[in-house]
Amino acid sequence: MSLPALPAFPASRPRRLRRDAFSRDLVREHRLHPSDLILPVFVLDGQAIAQDVASMPGVQRLSIDRLLPLAEQAVELGVPALALFPVIDQALKTPDGREACNPEGLVPRTVRALKDRFPQLGVITDVALDPYTSHGQDGLLDDSGYILNDPTVEMLVRQALNQAAAGVDIVAPSDMMDGRIGAIRQALEGAGHVHTRIMSYAAKYASAFYGPFRDAVGSAGNLGKADKKVYQMDPGNSDEALREVQLDIAEGADMVMVKPGMPYLDIVRRVKDAFHVPTFAYQVSGEYAMLKAAAANGWLDHDAVMMESLLAFKRAGADGVLSYFALDAARLLRRQG
Ligand code: PBG
Repeated sequence: MSLPALPAFPASRPRRLRRDAFSRDLVREHRLHPSDLILPVFVLDGQAIAQDVASMPGVQRLSIDRLLPLAEQAVELGVPALALFPVIDQALKTPDGREACNPEGLVPRTVRALKDRFPQLGVITDVALDPYTSHGQDGLLDDSGYILNDPTVEMLVRQALNQAAAGVDIVAPSDMMDGRIGAIRQALEGAGHVHTRIMSYAAKYASAFYGPFRDAVGSAGNLGKADKKVYQMDPGNSDEALREVQLDIAEGADMVMVKPGMPYLDIVRRVKDAFHVPTFAYQVSGEYAMLKAAAANGWLDHDAVMMESLLAFKRAGADGVLSYFALDAARLLRRQG
């Protein structure tokens, strides 16, 4: 029995281009740049406060005066924007989260301080009630504990207007109520905030990867054993993400986001291919915590997995990534020239 004849050498040798650093550089399809990154930050009231977040090594809750030097680093490193998340005093939390609409609240004060000191730095605020509600949900509840849609949207509109009046550049609704992008867009236009951009958390999944974030903003205790499955998306769904994105674009979103990041790169790719709009991904707190924990144990190379995980978002089609690694990655990119 004779075997089919094989060529004496492979017709193509993909390894040729991998042989040297110069040719790998020459043919690399995707690159990470500091301008791809957005740094999420946690702010709290007070003076000279920097509290470590135990489940997020390297991340701190900062008072406004301590946040400013961090913002300055972002500017120096070429990271274009910060995403602000407030840690609200328990005494200010109510069932309806009305503190979110306070013009002198923590978020408007932080926005003003940042825009005053670093006008060139983009500031993004989260539109959602969970840091402000006594029950830790992103919306208002009925007697059975169900999260009401339309009354919640009314509060979100007031919250977004409050943030826009403080001068924020981008509002980012992260709540997953139906119709909130359209309602917020209309209200912003009506109030003359025609430049306020909307980055919608369009495909946001009911994920277990948000755990450390809920510790950081102090909503974990309020939420208890409850979950957010009646409004955030089911991790088993993919077509539904496209419907959500389609709605948000039609309602007036300028940019859309997929969240979490790494476990949902397939969604990033589908969204980018289907809509060709500015698409962002959020490498969330649990993803950060996993990589940090493995690196701290010596099981993974910190810098290598940080860069590889961020580059993966670009390859999947994301235009930018929200990541707690943003400054570390930008620093490394700068060092590498
Ligand atoms: C809340 C919000 C969450 C995150 C951003 N905005 C948590 C949640 O939906 O419970 C998570 C971010 C992260 O895990 O890093 N509206």
